[in-house]
Amino acid sequence: MKEKLQRLQSEIAAAMIGGGEDKIDKQHEKGKLTARERIHFLLDNGSFEEIGMLVVHRSSDFGMEEQRIPGDGVVTGYGTIDGRLVYVFAQDFTVFGGSLSETHAEKICKLMDLAMENGAPLIGLNDSGGARIQEGVNSLGGYADIFYRNVMASGVIPQISAIMGPCAGGAVYSPAMTDFTIMVEHTSYMFVTGPNVVRTVTNEEVTAEELGGASAHSTKSGVTHLTADNDIDCLAKVRRLLSYLPQNCEARPAKLPFELKEETREQLRDIVPENANQPYDMRDVVNGIVDKDSFLEIHENYADNLIVGFARLGGRSIGIVGNQPISLAGVLDVNSSKKGARFVRFCDCFNIPLLVLVDVPGFLPGTDQEWNGIIVNGAKLLYAFSEATVPRVTLITRKAYGGAYDVMNSKHIGADMNFAWPSAEIAVMGAKGASEIIFRREILAAEDPQAMLAEKEQEYQEKFAHPYRAAGRGFIDEVIDPKDTRRKLIKAFAMLENKTAKLPKKKHGNIPL
Ligand code: HXC
Repeated sequence: MKEKLQRLQSEIAAAMIGGGEDKIDKQHEKGKLTARERIHFLLDNGSFEEIGMLVVHRSSDFGMEEQRIPGDGVVTGYGTIDGRLVYVFAQDFTVFGGSLSETHAEKICKLMDLAMENGAPLIGLNDSGGARIQEGVNSLGGYADIFYRNVMASGVIPQISAIMGPCAGGAVYSPAMTDFTIMVEHTSYMFVTGPNVVRTVTNEEVTAEELGGASAHSTKSGVTHLTADNDIDCLAKVRRLLSYLPQNCEARPAKLPFELKEETREQLRDIVPENANQPYDMRDVVNGIVDKDSFLEIHENYADNLIVGFARLGGRSIGIVGNQPISLAGVLDVNSSKKGARFVRFCDCFNIPLLVLVDVPGFLPGTDQEWNGIIVNGAKLLYAFSEATVPRVTLITRKAYGGAYDVMNSKHIGADMNFAWPSAEIAVMGAKGASEIIFRREILAAEDPQAMLAEKEQEYQEKFAHPYRAAGRGFIDEVIDPKDTRRKLIKAFAMLENKTAKLPKKKHGNIPL
């Protein structure tokens, strides 16, 4: 027995140091934590239970039989975050560069199966040189086994990918199919083909950081939803993100204790400027409405003419989608439509009610937008809202023009409660554009066309640029004083708490991809 215990101890010791002390030092020199340190900072203290610590690879090519390290480059197991069960894997770069062997993949798949069967979130901490080159197709098959499970788990349990080192080649497709990707600045990158291949094929000179670093993917491609300054920040952000999410698609997000009081927010009266063409920050509206410091913005620097994110309202977790007047006047374009649609669909998968804040002058015109498919991409957002069955509440703060009025969670596409501030303008288009079309003859015939245009604009404003026609038709349920918004919304979401809505029976819809 003593000898057996000694063997166990030495196997565990080998697993604990992975590729060895010098490789751990190298990892630290790069500013990165090791796989085990990451798990330590991610989970509640002492909650981690490891699965498959002694698994080794089965490969014998290229002298691999001499190099078997317990764990085989990935630490897998379960633990808790704020007391909630989660499953986590962390790739260990100190072991064959965290590369994915057949057995490494099997460990991750086993964890994914457990997460699905037990209805708890899966968190992947990625730091890997990709497919284990010595294993060839066995490794590629292992990736595909993971991809398949990513898809099966999609919409069943939340899946979060932290990118904390290299992530290249086909390996990027697993994070891409999870719900959220968070990248660490300067130490992580994602690309399908690296700078060398890019140089050979396209003659472009680009660094790994420029091509696929956190900054590129948070601003240009939108591949990553969040970025972090370092590993610790990344793990803290994963914990925070998780706090808004339920365990699985059949559960609801945790509700914090809350007691309704006056909830008056005078500052909301002063946000929308008198001049309809003057911008303001929709985040001020969000922060004026939601529980203090609770807004977690997603995709902050990508397609920033639309804001999306999670917050708490009266203790409830909600998803927020809002036009952002300080960027492109809050128009909808290709990227913001895709960003919004993906977020709406996530919230709908996981029973997170939606609050939609509207100040939108329409869709962005131009060849660039048309040729990049604003028709099909704008349709994604329209489709996503239309099929969402979670409680959906809209507040129009200012402009709701044209097709964008319909798209932004209008009553007509299934919103439950639609509010407007008195500053709301609901019309086919803005006063100037509309007057130039419908009063063209009078303006041309006038002695002073400019004065006539101004007069007609004024006339149009009085007729259309307010929320009362829409309220008269019941498309707006209530025009509210901005200072009462928080209270009204808390009560609306409480009223909608037990909403049940079913879509027509179908295999699945065909969202315009
Ligand atoms: C086996 C690998 C490996 C791999 C790295 N290592 N990548 N072993 N398979 N894919 C090993 C190295 O040999 C080295 O071992 C150790 O990991 C650390 O690697 P270094 O190169 O010393 O580290 P660093 O300088 O930080 O560079 C990291 C790296 C580089 C940029 C990731 O290792 C690299 O380019 N690796 C190959 C990446 C790649 O092309 N992978 C295939 C992608 S295609 P020693 O023993 O010296 O410490 C793919 C297809 C997936 O993944 C398809 C899915 C459908």
